[in-house]
Amino acid sequence: MAIIDGLRADAPVRRIRELPGPRGLPLLGNALQIERERLHQTVERWAREYGEMYRFRITSREFVVVSNPETVAAVLRDRPDGFQRGARLNAAARSLGFNGLFTVNGEEWRRHRPMVLRGLDPAHIKAFHPTLVKVTERFERRWRQAAEAGRAIDLQADLMRYTVDVTAGLAFGCDINTVESDEDVIQKHLDKLLPALARRVLSPLPRWVTRRAERGLDEHLAAMRSAVDGFIADARQRLADTPQLREHPHNLIEAMVAERDRPGSRLTDLDLSGNMMTMLLAGEDTTANTLAWMIWLLHRHPEAAQRAAEEVRRVLGAQSHPTHEQLGELDFVEACAHETMRLKPVAPLLIQEAVRDTVVSGLAVPAGTPVMCLMRPGAVDAAHFPDPEAFRPERWLAGNELGHAASSAKRVAMPFGAGPRTCPGRYLALSEMKMVAAMLLAAFDIADVATADGTEVQERLAFTMSPVGLQLRLRARA
Ligand code: HEM
Repeated sequence: MAIIDGLRADAPVRRIRELPGPRGLPLLGNALQIERERLHQTVERWAREYGEMYRFRITSREFVVVSNPETVAAVLRDRPDGFQRGARLNAAARSLGFNGLFTVNGEEWRRHRPMVLRGLDPAHIKAFHPTLVKVTERFERRWRQAAEAGRAIDLQADLMRYTVDVTAGLAFGCDINTVESDEDVIQKHLDKLLPALARRVLSPLPRWVTRRAERGLDEHLAAMRSAVDGFIADARQRLADTPQLREHPHNLIEAMVAERDRPGSRLTDLDLSGNMMTMLLAGEDTTANTLAWMIWLLHRHPEAAQRAAEEVRRVLGAQSHPTHEQLGELDFVEACAHETMRLKPVAPLLIQEAVRDTVVSGLAVPAGTPVMCLMRPGAVDAAHFPDPEAFRPERWLAGNELGHAASSAKRVAMPFGAGPRTCPGRYLALSEMKMVAAMLLAAFDIADVATADGTEVQERLAFTMSPVGLQLRLRARA
């Protein structure tokens, strides 16, 4: 039996049935106590009640929940051999065509990971910068029009246009320009597919019961596949026109098509389209929702917004958008992004499944057990972050509590995960966040960010955790 976090081999080991947890019903377990869109809040509340390790059950599936950051990191690091993404996620992703790096396991994952990593590495992000500026300029025009017309902006919908355009530009080499069109081909379908994925992974009910909620899904799926097949066909054409691209691909899709077409390649057409769908899935919601939370938090903390705006104006001087190098100088803006992800991690829980019998922090975990890692409790624990509920970006700056390399608290907040499967899109995500924040703070004053009826903004868990219904009102600066 593997022991993954340094406990002595002869230390007494607890069994799952000895763990505390909320009382449930005989067949359903705790299913009726859980509302899928608030699952993260329920399991966080139970963690406050039952401690850093507890269990709950949805029908016959028993979950172990861990929230101690060291235990979470130990589980996430013990991949791919000790833990992997759950079989349910894998099956749900396959059924919806999203079987790519995020959801595959084992050998398949080992083959896909290096390719995707290369497509998203810092060198590619640097080479991509001119396109990032172009998409940001369009985005600024869209927001300027809204400001001039005194129109409220649907914050998440607009940010998703931006992140889809950026992901398609970087990963597919395509300029789909949803920012400047009122057509929202990709978002319209993703908006239906992502909740369906979450439902298929988490719903305790069998598929025939949830079928009603999935009405029309096949059409969305077919349209999405046809869009992705179009990107693949375009890439194949570019490789045919310019054969040197096979050795020196410009982007992820060209690298994958070149690999797929190589004699003896083990990559399939489904791997290709699955990874392209995965890029859209992993790159759209996550970054857009983090940005939405960040803009909302900045509006609630005018002194932080003011400091960020001053930094942007100082670094940019007379320029409208930061160069790639200047992005590295926006320390306070980056600190705002880290502080946002600490308080509002858009991936608040990561479910992993034990590949083999193992011992986690003294608990015997049999192969196949789903272990739910909670990412927020450690990040809002006063033991690691003084005044933990406060939005204080400066804590991340050099010389402050988290601003030195040795700070162990810094590793407690893991918004991009940890270990071998940590998020390969983090450089891109941070670049996007800094570009949008710099554009916003240089060109506009935030007049308001609120829900339409002025009520407190709610967290909703679909595939990621998003704020519900935020509207943004801007005033263009002179
Ligand atoms: C603020 C934005 C983002 C956040 C908070 C985020 C967060 C995460 C998290 C928590 C994971 C799971 C890590 C783990 O299991 O340890 C992940 C995985 C992943 N992310 Fe991101 N992500 C973001 C943006 C992006 C972007 C922009 C892309 C690509 C365009 C991307 C692509 C991926 C992929 C492909 C994986 C799967 C990696 C694997 O399983 O090997 N992410 N992300």
